[in-house]
Amino acid sequence: MIAFIIGYFCGSIPFGLVLAKAAGKGDIRSIGSGNIGATNVLRTGSKGLAAGTLLLDLVKGFIPVVLATYLANGQQSLHEAAWGPVPLAAAGAVLGHCFPIWLGFKGGKGVATNAGVAFGLAWEVGAAYALVWIAVLVIVRISSVAGMSAVVAATVAAALLGLDQFVPVLIFIALLIIWLHRANVSRLLKGEEPRVGKAS
Ligand code: G3P
Repeated sequence: MIAFIIGYFCGSIPFGLVLAKAAGKGDIRSIGSGNIGATNVLRTGSKGLAAGTLLLDLVKGFIPVVLATYLANGQQSLHEAAWGPVPLAAAGAVLGHCFPIWLGFKGGKGVATNAGVAFGLAWEVGAAYALVWIAVLVIVRISSVAGMSAVVAATVAAALLGLDQFVPVLIFIALLIIWLHRANVSRLLKGEEPRVGKAS
C-alpha cells in the first residue's frame, strides 16, 4: 500500500501545469485540448516547455517503480506478485497523474508517466513502449494514436517476455489510458484529431 501511495503522490505532480504557468503561458487547462500533458503544452508554442513536461512526467513514473523494485528486491514473493509493491507503485503513479488530488482529480491521460513506468518495470518493456510511441508519432503524427499504440505495445511486450507479474497492471493502465482518450477517439473517428504541433 505504501508503494501505491508514494507512486500516487509522485504521479500527481502536474508538471505541465506548473511549467506552463511558471513560463507565463497561463493555465494549460484553458488551452487546446485542456490536457496537462506534453502534447498540449506544445500547443503553447514552446517546444522546450513540452520537452520538459515530457521528461518530468516520465521521471515521476520511473522513480516510484524503481524505488519499489529496490525495496522488494531480495523478497522473491514480493517481487513476483502481480499486485505486489512494484505493480502497485506503477498503478499509483499513473492514477496520480490522471486523477491528481491537487487538481480536483482532473489530470492528464497518463501516456508519458506510463512510459516512465514501463522503463521502471523492465528496460525491454520501456524500449517497446518508446519505439512504438516514436514510430507511430513519426508516421501518423497524431499524439493520441501514438500514445494508445504504445500502451498496448508495452502490455504485449511484457507478456511476450514472460514478465507475467506485470501484465495485469499494464492491462489495467492500458484500459484506463484508452478510456481517458475517448474524446480523442471520437475526434479521430470524425477526422478532427489535430496533428502534432497544430492547435486543436
Ligand atoms: O498524451 C496525451 C495525448 O495522447 C493526447 O493529448 O492534448 O491531444 O488530448 P491531447
